[in-house]
Amino acid sequence: MDIEHNYKPINVADAIHLYEGEVAWRSPSNIALVKYWGKYGRQLPSNPSVSFTLKNAHTNMRMSYKPGNGQVVLFFEKERNTAFEARIAKFIKSIEDIYPFLQGLDLEIHSDNSFPHSAGIASSASAMSALALCLCSIEQKAFNTLTDKDEFLEKASYLSRLASGSACRSVYPKLGQWGIHEGIQGSTNNFAIDVSDRVDPIFHTFKNSILIASAKEKSVSSSAGHQLMEDNPYAAVRFQQANDNLVKLMQAMKEGDLDTFMLIVEEEALTLHALMMTSTPSYVLMKPGSLVLIEKIRAFRAETGLPVCFTLDAGPNLHVLYPEHITTQVQSFIKEECQAFCENGLIIEDEVGEGAIAI
Ligand code: DP6
Repeated sequence: MDIEHNYKPINVADAIHLYEGEVAWRSPSNIALVKYWGKYGRQLPSNPSVSFTLKNAHTNMRMSYKPGNGQVVLFFEKERNTAFEARIAKFIKSIEDIYPFLQGLDLEIHSDNSFPHSAGIASSASAMSALALCLCSIEQKAFNTLTDKDEFLEKASYLSRLASGSACRSVYPKLGQWGIHEGIQGSTNNFAIDVSDRVDPIFHTFKNSILIASAKEKSVSSSAGHQLMEDNPYAAVRFQQANDNLVKLMQAMKEGDLDTFMLIVEEEALTLHALMMTSTPSYVLMKPGSLVLIEKIRAFRAETGLPVCFTLDAGPNLHVLYPEHITTQVQSFIKEECQAFCENGLIIEDEVGEGAIAI
């Protein structure tokens, strides 16, 4: 039985250090291999998931704090952003049971993304994990807690999850796993865990070329998508499939079995989109270009026998995944055959990264 984590509330009265300062974190985005799609309760996942932590796509967040009354002022890419500010203020209010001390602080946040906002890449995982890491750093500085690195990351992952489910996997290097599964030791719904040392090192340097099929903002948010899973007729079968795929994928990754890896990763991507198409109301986030690109990747793999596959998150863009040693071949194929189908020829090069760092 997985029990909701019960962190002791951190109260203003417990502060032992100067209650004013600045903290800063860089936290990356991630791309799920087994997808989290469907949730319940307080941001608990309906099925377990696992993702590659990315390197180049990240958020830099600087947060200054001083005594106050819970005000949040937020600058995104140097400009005040009241929509993002309201989301963060709402989140901070929502964790009042865990961090009552935040109600006695004013925060000024400066957030920047490394990737262009015109690329249609989701930024909630990097931004929300950066936010959670900054809050944990404030706790550490003001209360002298979370001095153990693992404990720190666990709480940061826990708070990230409350802000945005997929964000909880971003704090760890290489491969983060979230959601309870009896076959995955240490797994829990409360926070993600680092499973990078449970796989063959070939996956530690995997490449991810992101083909931007469309840079437009998506028509249905992930939050709305998760909600639609509640009445999806295939939900129960899907949650079972994700559980099965997780153990199969982890076994394949342990053995360095690229064929099984590719099979499961593509099945997960297409299942995610099939679930959107079978929701009520149904919706489609892929674009014609997404399908063209899928066919091109599959044809290239069939012709060359090279281990290249794709995944998609909740949007039209393709994440092409491949081992580092075939980078030259894959990148010239992408340039010659895929770039013409990307919006404004946009391709973003990324790879597996080392997780969040204090800056
Ligand atoms: C398709 O984490 O964005 O990327 O918890 O509502 O913030 P919220 O949802 P979010 O969902 C992401 C879903 C996904 C799959 C995944 O990352 O596992």
